[in-house]
Amino acid sequence: MAELEQRGERTPAPTAWEYASAPESREIVKLEERYGLFVGGEFIAPRSDEYYTTINPATEEPLAELPQAGPEDVAFAVEAARDAFANGWSAAAPAERAKYLYRIARILQERSREFAVLESLNGGKPIRESRDVDLPLAAAHFFYYAGWADKLEYAFPHRRPQPLGVAGQIIPWNFPLLMLAWKIAPALAAGNTVVLKPAETTPLTALLFCDVLRQAELPPGVVNIVTGDGATGAALVKSDVDKIAFTGSTEVGKAIQRELAGTGKKLTLELGGKAANIIFDDCALDQAVEGIVNGIYFNQGHVCCAGSRLLVQESIYEPLIEKLKRRLKTLRVGDPLDKNTDLGAINSRQQLEKIEELVAAGKEEGAEIYQPPCRLPEKGYWFVPTVFTNVAQSYRIAQEEIFGPVLSVLTFRTPDEAVEKANNTPYGLSAGVWTEKGSRILWMAQRLEAGVIWANTYNRFDPASPFGGYKESGFGREGGRHGLEPYLEFAEVSGG
Ligand code: NAI
Ligand code: MG
Repeated sequence: MAELEQRGERTPAPTAWEYASAPESREIVKLEERYGLFVGGEFIAPRSDEYYTTINPATEEPLAELPQAGPEDVAFAVEAARDAFANGWSAAAPAERAKYLYRIARILQERSREFAVLESLNGGKPIRESRDVDLPLAAAHFFYYAGWADKLEYAFPHRRPQPLGVAGQIIPWNFPLLMLAWKIAPALAAGNTVVLKPAETTPLTALLFCDVLRQAELPPGVVNIVTGDGATGAALVKSDVDKIAFTGSTEVGKAIQRELAGTGKKLTLELGGKAANIIFDDCALDQAVEGIVNGIYFNQGHVCCAGSRLLVQESIYEPLIEKLKRRLKTLRVGDPLDKNTDLGAINSRQQLEKIEELVAAGKEEGAEIYQPPCRLPEKGYWFVPTVFTNVAQSYRIAQEEIFGPVLSVLTFRTPDEAVEKANNTPYGLSAGVWTEKGSRILWMAQRLEAGVIWANTYNRFDPASPFGGYKESGFGREGGRHGLEPYLEFAEVSGG
């Protein structure tokens, strides 16, 4: 280790690279002043007659007006979905459904730059991420589930899979288009129709997606999009749907579960997380540092599976923290449309306030804070990438989901202690393990209570791989063959 440190002194990591800005042009995006609800294949004015304004969180500039859909609007959209289900979609040849999904996937690829710019404009995430992660993965989901549409009998042999009917889907603001793809692709592949509500702060890519549906000539009513806040979501939960799929806060997830108890409606919940990213002393340290950074600062930490609790083996604590701090100094925070940007804007004022509150609590409880020197833009919502050391397990910053670029560091001595600390959370969505030993990876994976466990990497996604949680992180899986199951019912064949 001493050798490493010495070398580090002779060739200090550059901390002040100057980058000329490289902004992506927003010309490609054409915004309407005011949007309607997408119901039955058309944009219609809301019966509620209420609108709200969506903004760019990096500048606070208004972008467009959206309907705040009321219960009547939601009921109308569900009716349109019900009609489309009964009059063609559920009876269509499975290969026919696949055709539309393939078309959607290809159009998303063709228009990916437009979507990426709009996603960054409305949500604040760096263009590098919307371009290289959100868009390719969204298209990949449609491609993947297109492939299953005519193979359901093979996916579930002897079980006679049937669609449920109308799926109500409520999604969050951290991966707006990607969450839409996670929800809509398996639902349609399984033969359902959909009413989807995007999050109130990030509705614009969902509305642009309606244009993709028209281009793909998807039959009217198969996908309907209603905009609005939590009240619209609550109306969708109460409406005449056959299933609710929700991704968002644990608090709202629990409320939905209570509302649906005893109704016979199916439910899947993908809620929060407080993942442990566990670093053993035999791992490749520099790679681990990249994994830690990607684990917590990707998408400003607005990630349910973010590696927000770093568990470091004591023997490498000091060199690791030093490397991490050095790496933090090279992160660039600023204009989401700049191709050099690593951390963009915080999604909303509300989310910024939540992060600030928890960071203040961390300081008060006695943790030590580190933030690299960083100049933030004057307008908009921003937060400097932050590391807390000296964190006790009981601190709020070790227990609660911050959903921002804030890492809490804890230490451990033995693998057993790492497992115990990692599982000491009400959540169980994901975890990371960094070690050279394959046997240790398997040993850890068997003991960690988490739906997804990454080994020597972090925050990697693939449509073929199921994703979902244990405990308060929810239930049901999205992605993979597992992701079809919540959208199907089965008439089991005996003796099969
Ligand atoms: P939220 O759970 O309130 O919002 C998520 C979605 O649910 C949005 O579309 C929202 O309009 C809708 N919604 C809100 N109240 C509803 C209700 N009563 N019935 C039906 N739908 C409703 O999350 P919020 O307030 O935006 O964020 C709060 C915290 O939740 C975050 O700080 C983060 O910790 C966590 N969160 C976790 C996400 C995840 O990916 N698991 C995503 C978003 C937030
Ligand atoms: Mg909320």
